[in-house]
Amino acid sequence: MNETDAFPSEIERQLKEETRIRTLMDHDAGAGLLNPYAQTKVGSDTIFAWWGRYQNAVAQDIDAVNGTIGALLEDDGTLAINAVVDEAVRKAPPVEIAAYAPLKGLPAFLDLAKSLALGDRRNELEAMGLSITATASAGGSGALYLAATNFANRGDHVLLRDRHWGPYKGFLSGCDLKVTTYPLLPESTSPYPYVDIDSFKLKLSELCKEQDKVMMWVNDPAHNPTGLSLTADGRMALLEAVMESASVNEDVGHTLLLDAAYHLYAEEPHGWADTLHEAMTNGWPWPENLLITFALSLSKSHTIYGLRTGALVSVHPDAAVTERIGTVMGVTGRQTWSAAPRVSQYTVSELHASDETGAAWSKERDRLQSLLSERRSAFIAACEELNVPLNPTHDGFFAWLEHDQPVEIAEACAQQNVFLVPLTGGVRIGLCAIPLAQIPRVAQALAHALS
Ligand SMILES: Cc1ncc(COP(=O)(O)O)c(C=O)c1O
Repeated sequence: MNETDAFPSEIERQLKEETRIRTLMDHDAGAGLLNPYAQTKVGSDTIFAWWGRYQNAVAQDIDAVNGTIGALLEDDGTLAINAVVDEAVRKAPPVEIAAYAPLKGLPAFLDLAKSLALGDRRNELEAMGLSITATASAGGSGALYLAATNFANRGDHVLLRDRHWGPYKGFLSGCDLKVTTYPLLPESTSPYPYVDIDSFKLKLSELCKEQDKVMMWVNDPAHNPTGLSLTADGRMALLEAVMESASVNEDVGHTLLLDAAYHLYAEEPHGWADTLHEAMTNGWPWPENLLITFALSLSKSHTIYGLRTGALVSVHPDAAVTERIGTVMGVTGRQTWSAAPRVSQYTVSELHASDETGAAWSKERDRLQSLLSERRSAFIAACEELNVPLNPTHDGFFAWLEHDQPVEIAEACAQQNVFLVPLTGGVRIGLCAIPLAQIPRVAQALAHALS
């Protein structure tokens, strides 16, 4: 097996395992052993199921299109791998592979994580008095878990947009948290076309009346599942709303989590740091009860999905607060996955410490980003031509068709051998997996499905 087909083979193995489990599945089995929450966990995964249908079509020699999986594939269908990272991992000294990392993460990696979250603004923000702490995590998922389990009170609601990455619910419900949502897009024309700021404010003020801690998760830029990115004005409006709420509700802790799983493939990767910088420059007093935290994932940006590397990077003006948060997150990591993998932390820190390899990584990243942007531009143009009402989409791995019958639309596309993923409220189009040459077929399939 060569390395580039290892990933699809792994998916195939998981799919077979899922199918095997599903055929054996008896939901009552183990009820005397599993606690009631564990018994709510069922193993069917929509994305894998639709990916399996694509695989079945290919096995029958059908010329099918794969818009199902959430990994970046080259136009020939193999997993896209940033060669610079791959090479650096292979050169890591044995001890960096074998040893544990420090519990909070390798210091050089924690330093890098802050820069990856905040970009060139990092130094300015620190000079303005902001203190930053980072904790290494098992991927972006680990960072989300660290936030879920530490920043909200058990039993409370966390504020999300109504279209969000499915696993959010699992991370939150595992911490006994509920979800409350506001619409992804405003219904009427708004100065902020990509954020429903009025609904956001309303929900936030409702939560502030009921809870003494409020956590909001915003996957921006390059939202999964739509590819939406907020504009600078939209970010500022959202930040203003949160700062205002924190100032008015002094006794309510506010945590704004920015899920940066795809940010390094976005046009404005560090737009949130720019917005924070602008707010600080305008002399905004940062309320003590406000924390901004970034859930960082290196899975996509460094194509090390399987090396489980990410970080939670938190920003606050009081160093005592960030110090305390660092301790809490380190202890949580220790009690959950022990230490995050060392070899990836070592490798990426070394890689970015050198101008030469740093630039080589950027060049590869740019190449991968242009795969995505070419596919997206072609898809938007084809949808426009065929009057497919695609949602606004800007960056990252996905595009989205909002629809109240997503399964019917995805089924109709599958009839045309185009495989997409029906999710709550719409159909996800995995541009990351679709070769450029097949993009027009996807728009055509959607146009037929809609008609
Ligand atoms: C929106 C979003 N957030 C976070 C993650 C977590 O990524 P990982 O745990 O693989 O680093 C993903 C992965 O698909 C994602 O789509």
